[in-house]
Amino acid sequence: MEERKKIPVVMDFDTGTDDAVALITALLHRDMLDVCAVTAVAGNVPLEATAANTLNIVDALGHTDIPVAKGADKPLKRELHCAISHGKTGLGDVIVPDSERGFYEKDAADAIYEAALAHEGELFVLATGPQTNLAIAIQRHLDIVKLIKRVYIMGGCLVGGNMTQASEFNAYVDPEAMQILFRSGVDVVMVGLDVTLQTELPIWVRDRVEAAGTPEAKLAVQVMDFMIKRNKEFGYDVANLHDVVAFCAIVNPSVLKLKRYYVDVETEGTITRGMTVADFRDVCPDKEKNVTCAEDIDVEGFWNWFVDVFEKRGKRR
Ligand code: RIB
Ligand code: CA
Repeated sequence: MEERKKIPVVMDFDTGTDDAVALITALLHRDMLDVCAVTAVAGNVPLEATAANTLNIVDALGHTDIPVAKGADKPLKRELHCAISHGKTGLGDVIVPDSERGFYEKDAADAIYEAALAHEGELFVLATGPQTNLAIAIQRHLDIVKLIKRVYIMGGCLVGGNMTQASEFNAYVDPEAMQILFRSGVDVVMVGLDVTLQTELPIWVRDRVEAAGTPEAKLAVQVMDFMIKRNKEFGYDVANLHDVVAFCAIVNPSVLKLKRYYVDVETEGTITRGMTVADFRDVCPDKEKNVTCAEDIDVEGFWNWFVDVFEKRGKRR
């Protein structure tokens, strides 16, 4: 039987804790994914930290063949606003050995473009931080829009933010970048808070991942344990695996209820900065339904998939 063609993908993270778990989970899918590059953007913590975290995790798990590129150190037009719940380093109290290699010679935007040219019309992009790198790639290389097959983002919300009452963190940090992406014509899947806030890590999941006993499981549990601890000790966010849900949309979309809407992003508002505004009642019939939004999630199905990744894929590695 003909071997199934791998999906070419570039993954852009603001590696923080849930990005780290998403990266670890994705690296267990190299039998399905041709990971052309991994890129880093400023978001949860400054770029120096997100980039080092990303490179160190890729290399600590043995994927030194994957180029890791540094991207934007601040939003397109605004000052960088970081999160506090990922700790100073972005990985809480988790220590990952320093990589022995350098970053890719191209920056993130050019690394995304290079992969798009190599996989004309077939490239998937996962972006789980502010979409600054993607926006720069679109602005710098206008032809990239037809070269990218689909962009999956963790970001936005149909109803109710986590940064403000109106907006989700990634959208709040760089609303201009998200607006450029949504208006570009690229096919976008928005995995927002409406589904990711339903994924608070259950202890049975944490324990089943730990029991897998692989290097990937060990590192993922260290990060998830910090996420649990930060909530208990400091009252920070609970252990929501936001970015893992966005990755899951690529390899296991059946757990998500998806619907296409016309969505734009508020960039002028103060109270509504970064609000992702969907046309639920088709009051703008002249506007193309540009974003496929995740409206609901089969939470049990998601956790069973997540555990399976570490129990089955991890063993096969
Ligand atoms: O709002 C949650 C998102 O913002 C997640 O991607 C988290 O890592 C932060 O980037
Ligand atoms: Ca993130």
